[in-house]
Amino acid sequence: MSEADRLLSEIAAIATRPMAEATAMPPRIYTDPDIHALELERIFCKSWICLGRADQMAKPGSYLTFKIADQPVMAIRQKDGAVRAFANVCLHRMMVLLDGSGSCKRIVCPYHAWTYDIDGSLIGAPQMDRTAGFNPRDRALLELPCEVWQGWVYVSLDPDIAPVAEQLAALSPVVDRYRMADYVTVVTQDHVWDTNWKLLTENFMESYHLPVAHRETVGAWFPVDDTGFPDDWHPHFTYETFKKNDDATYGLAHPDNTVLEGEWRRTSVMPTVFPTHMFVLGPDHLWYLTLMPEGTGKVHVRFGAALAPEVLVGLDDPETFLRDTIGFFDKVNDEDRFIVEGIYKGARAPLSVGGPLSWMEREIHDFIRYLAGRLT
Ligand code: FES
Ligand SMILES: [Fe+2]
Repeated sequence: MSEADRLLSEIAAIATRPMAEATAMPPRIYTDPDIHALELERIFCKSWICLGRADQMAKPGSYLTFKIADQPVMAIRQKDGAVRAFANVCLHRMMVLLDGSGSCKRIVCPYHAWTYDIDGSLIGAPQMDRTAGFNPRDRALLELPCEVWQGWVYVSLDPDIAPVAEQLAALSPVVDRYRMADYVTVVTQDHVWDTNWKLLTENFMESYHLPVAHRETVGAWFPVDDTGFPDDWHPHFTYETFKKNDDATYGLAHPDNTVLEGEWRRTSVMPTVFPTHMFVLGPDHLWYLTLMPEGTGKVHVRFGAALAPEVLVGLDDPETFLRDTIGFFDKVNDEDRFIVEGIYKGARAPLSVGGPLSWMEREIHDFIRYLAGRLT
């Protein structure tokens, strides 16, 4: 039995345990290169991957890029308002076309200037008139499945994947009340952290660490016993709900929010859309991560925050407010980075073992069930 097979049968066994007997995964699951290769093939190439928010690409020609497994991809707003996605690689000699995010009238390859319309069709290629049978009109970038759900832009490499709305149908009733599609993006950042993607996913999923690792930021705002979980297990997502105390700086409904009632005015939902899209959806803000592994020990982290529209109306000093808000989430991210890089060092240590989980880590057990189902 190979090391990867042994690890997979170990996580399959952990996945079947009841929550009261759940444990963390074995450390080698985070460091084994064969597990990583399987994850790319069976998870990342077969899932919806979030690139960011649709309001970041409002006008025709505005785009977001990302990598799914080893494939660079772009999502780009069309003239008719639709969002379409394409393989982000030139049809000539494979240069990556677009970088980061931005806006363009057409897509011009930085290598020899082959030029594509924003609908992916090749419209120009210099000095190709002596090439036998070459007609740019015969060529177009490979189109990929792309959907916008609740303001999120998702792309997949799997042509047969089921629609996002179908996969997340049972999540909609939980999050619909917030109207998150209307939230306004105020920041996005890209980073590379020295950790395994699963350690960062698991870290984001549980609020057990908040009173400790985030004691200087969000940690003091939680009545811990009010943490809730879905009744059922879902194959494409999990979530928890938590409440904020009345003195929390973020996480309470703005007085002008007229849609949320009662306890929902101080309740946040924290879904993980498997494998790597995680967000905290509060009455006033949205804070998200989307990830892509770069080998076992590095992960591309795309972080963003958005605010409910009423929060941004009538501010005395919007600049200071936004600077403080972004600075606050930067600090929370730094606190998480310290943790997830630390646990990766721990996972690489030869004497490490995964210990038992708390009831507050229910989402980690859901994630282990998900991994076991996809990888084994
Ligand atoms: S690789 Fe794009 S034009 Fe040559
Ligand atoms: Fe955290």
